[in-house]
Amino acid sequence: MKRLGLGILGSGKGSNCRAILESIRTGTLSAEARVVLSDVLDAPILEIAREFAIPNAYFPPGQFRTRLEPNAEAELVQMLRDAEVDLVVLAGFMRVLKSPILEAFPRRIINIHPSLLPKFPGLEAWKQALDAGETVTGCTVHYVDEKIDHGDLIAQREVPILPNDSAESLHARIQIAEHELYPAVIEKLCRENDRVR
Ligand code: GAR
Repeated sequence: MKRLGLGILGSGKGSNCRAILESIRTGTLSAEARVVLSDVLDAPILEIAREFAIPNAYFPPGQFRTRLEPNAEAELVQMLRDAEVDLVVLAGFMRVLKSPILEAFPRRIINIHPSLLPKFPGLEAWKQALDAGETVTGCTVHYVDEKIDHGDLIAQREVPILPNDSAESLHARIQIAEHELYPAVIEKLCRENDRVR
């Protein structure tokens, strides 16, 4: 069985990336991490990649705050192709992607988001759920399209909101769920991919 090649993109602390790399190391996820890329020069996710000896790089995002400059996105596509990436995995990547990369990897880009989408897209989704007085929130893995935290849903996991939850305690519990859900979903996609090959 040929292993699916992952390209992991993140802007921050990289705990989902770590969960994926650990699942590969322990053999519960039969994929291969080919590259980890970040739009933030000193992002801890790059340090995690080095710890696991995965090729990694910073790519300059350009002048925009919420998306990539078109030439930066073209450069990113090239880096992913050079690394022979089959599936692009967004793990805390905080920019919206546009057509060059979406066309280069059709239905081959997935994201994890800390809410039960379509509820609470955007920043600090756990705070949004808390402020809205919800009693249950969770996390979602979905295919990526041109809109923020939008696209066909693949899987969700519920997380109850407890009466004395703070934003921090709630996000921490959601992240525990994320770290189980994301590798399991990627493993499922690997198996499906293997069946159609
Ligand atoms: C995760 O909670 C992820 O769901 C969220 O960023 C965090 C990254 O944590 N993503 C989004 O909000 C996407 N809109 P990590 O760097 O520790 O994996």
